Amino acid sequence: MSLKLAILISGRGSNMQAIHRAIKEGRLDATIAAVISDQPAAPGLAYAQAEGILTHVVEKQKGEDREAFDRRLIAQLEEDPPQIVALAGYMRLLSPAFIGHFHRRIVNIHPSLLPAFPGLHAQRQALEAGVRYSGCTVHFVDEGCDTGPIIDQRVVAVLPEDTEETLAARILEQEHQLYPACLQRIAEGKVKVEGRKVLL
Ligand code: GAR
Repeated sequence: MSLKLAILISGRGSNMQAIHRAIKEGRLDATIAAVISDQPAAPGLAYAQAEGILTHVVEKQKGEDREAFDRRLIAQLEEDPPQIVALAGYMRLLSPAFIGHFHRRIVNIHPSLLPAFPGLHAQRQALEAGVRYSGCTVHFVDEGCDTGPIIDQRVVAVLPEDTEETLAARILEQEHQLYPACLQRIAEGKVKVEGRKVLL
């Protein structure tokens, strides 16, 4: 059964593009109901528009708190309710109300092997910690910061000459494969959560 997605972005949107490519190439049985950005100038919006994908901007207003902002985001999403809300470089923390509304239906990609290096600048954190391997993680979103049930991960070697940029680029290549593959497993009904864990 085709999986109906809404994708939230804040910037470049290369993961959103990878998801869209996977759909076009028949590797992912899904449709994209909308791409929503909190940033009106997000470069990913132009790609989505050029590809004929419906886009919306839900921008934080001056003095608006997270709950009020997320209520507007929920209202926008519910205009054409998705089965899965896929975060793809969406750089805003979600309120408990939003997470509760889409319970176990929000998926995120993060550029580290969680639970290592949650939050911002995950690649920089990995370099500073001197780890030999990092990678990326696709996980369900819960109330914590990058703490939800892990769906799958890819390992990437950290090289002695790596900068934040080169490491980020090597991890990103894996992100572009991992995210569509995880969404396909969800589309096939193969991802079951028990307690805090996704069953293998
Ligand atoms: C990706 O590396 C993604 O994993 C990361 O931001 C980048 C977005 O790139 N997300 C986070 O760090 C979330 N905490 P994209 O806009 O090209 O998909």
